Amino acid sequence: MKFTLKIWRQETPQSSGKFVSYPIDSITGDMSFLEMLDMLNVELVRKGEPAVEFEHDCREGICGSCSLTINGCPHGPDTGTATCQLHMRRFKDGETLYIEPWRARAFPVIKDLV
Ligand code: FES
Repeated sequence: MKFTLKIWRQETPQSSGKFVSYPIDSITGDMSFLEMLDMLNVELVRKGEPAVEFEHDCREGICGSCSLTINGCPHGPDTGTATCQLHMRRFKDGETLYIEPWRARAFPVIKDLV
């Protein structure tokens, strides 16, 4: 599967962020959303570019720290499913995905998706 990722990049809490487009392919439907982001980061680091910062801890659907907003939905399109339990087979091959931090006054953006 391949996707176009539009990811919110923001260097510091004070800087203004913007969406940056990243094409990605060789994604399998069994990958979790976070594993897909891991794969993007491996590629970015290999090219000497800064990795996309994102939050996670358990990767088992327990802690809730993987609070990305995907296409405008907190944790993505599935009700009651954390981002780390969301699999790429949930999306259509070739789809464009907008990935941004969860936005709330009590949780200011620190960097990228954190
Ligand atoms: S990383 Fe803990 S619920 Fe997703």
